[in-house]
Amino acid sequence: MEQRDQWATKIGLILAMAGNAIGLGNFWRFPYQLASNGGGAFMIPYFIALFFLGIPVMWIEWTTGRYGGKYGHGTIGPMFYLMARESLKPKTALIFGIIGGMLAFSVASLLSSYYYQIIGWSAAYTYYSLTGAYFGKDTVQFFVDYVSNTGAVITFWGLTMVILGIAVGQGVSKGIERWVKVMMPLLYVFAILLVIRALTLGSPVKPEWSAIKGLEYIWKPNFEVLSQNFFKISLAAAGQIFFTLSLGMGIIHNYASYLGPEDDVALSGLATVSLNEFAEVILGGSLAIPIAFAYLGPEQAVKSGVGLAYMALPNVFMHMPGGQIFGAMWFLLLWFAGFTSAIATYNYLVAMIEEDIHIDRKIGTWLVFIFLFLLGLPVALDSSLVYLSELDMWVGSYFLVLLGLFDVIVAVWLFKPDNFWEELHKGAFINVPSWFKPIMVFIAPLFMIILLGGNTWDYYK
Ligand code: PHE
Repeated sequence: MEQRDQWATKIGLILAMAGNAIGLGNFWRFPYQLASNGGGAFMIPYFIALFFLGIPVMWIEWTTGRYGGKYGHGTIGPMFYLMARESLKPKTALIFGIIGGMLAFSVASLLSSYYYQIIGWSAAYTYYSLTGAYFGKDTVQFFVDYVSNTGAVITFWGLTMVILGIAVGQGVSKGIERWVKVMMPLLYVFAILLVIRALTLGSPVKPEWSAIKGLEYIWKPNFEVLSQNFFKISLAAAGQIFFTLSLGMGIIHNYASYLGPEDDVALSGLATVSLNEFAEVILGGSLAIPIAFAYLGPEQAVKSGVGLAYMALPNVFMHMPGGQIFGAMWFLLLWFAGFTSAIATYNYLVAMIEEDIHIDRKIGTWLVFIFLFLLGLPVALDSSLVYLSELDMWVGSYFLVLLGLFDVIVAVWLFKPDNFWEELHKGAFINVPSWFKPIMVFIAPLFMIILLGGNTWDYYK
């Protein structure tokens, strides 16, 4: 058998994992979730979910992925099957493999169907910022016109997909790893430059609106608002943790499968979480909301919703000195962030074809291209964005938590907690404290069951 591809360098692996996690979730989704869920009220359950769900599930997925890779598998189906066999008969274990495999396939493809569109918007807006196309116009109308312009939408989305296809077609170490090594450092540089710009913004409109007010809105804990909407805000916060850390998608498993069998997962998993959270709460949190607070005022900023990044901010750039450059930088940042995440879902689907059905990677890449193009077409054609928001609500939160629950059931319970703990520590650079074990075995799954139950209840209520 041909040797399976592996990450060539440690730094490449960490950047690829960080690139996987750091995405539109950090710069587009986080600010608007935060704004629609009470700012400082949202941050409380957010950090609780980070600790009790984010970190444990991240470790579980890294461990599962490396375990699968050892047997030559990069997708959840065979991974779950192998692990469940530890306590089940092969036939029963197969059921878990099939459920996990189908869930991950649905998540990776449906998520891509709308996520790649938003990356396409970012490409378009980078171009429109450079040319100043929306300057002096009504930016809401401009956005509505853009998403109704099917030709433009498909062109920018298609172009993005072609570049994704080229990168994935080159393989893991020669493709993905090389691309992220260029894009991720640039992403950090852009984000830091933009943060400096944002936080030094006084308001040209009203002196009492400033970027700093936006930071206060995020960082001042607001227990009152939280207690009034406890369930809704907690669900949104936990959903965001899953989304931003790329959990419950199969893509952390897949990337971890390209590790060597004795490569560290404990410290690397934690590093992925830390790099992502830095990019989310520190960088992501200091951009869209503070900028919008300074230029649009608190009320407008909080109300902007899904459109914050694409409708509210262009309004700001056109009035800002150097706005064409800062605007282009912001949208190129979004494009890089989205691209280095999208490459992971794309690779997941290619790995399914390559390893589970044994078709050559090059051919697999273009088969996936056609599949994702057809799946994304209805999203591209629906200029009302209703279908897109619906997908984001279901796939972007509910399904992720569901797959996360299966992660624990299979990799911790069926594989057996002691085996799991041993596997997590193989080759580990750090020792996970033993009090963390009950969190992984009991608290995290209980938390997910409550979330799923609450979500279902909310829906039928
Ligand atoms: N963590 C990614 C993000 O924050 C989630 C994601 C990955 C979404 C891959 C789609 C595809 O954007």
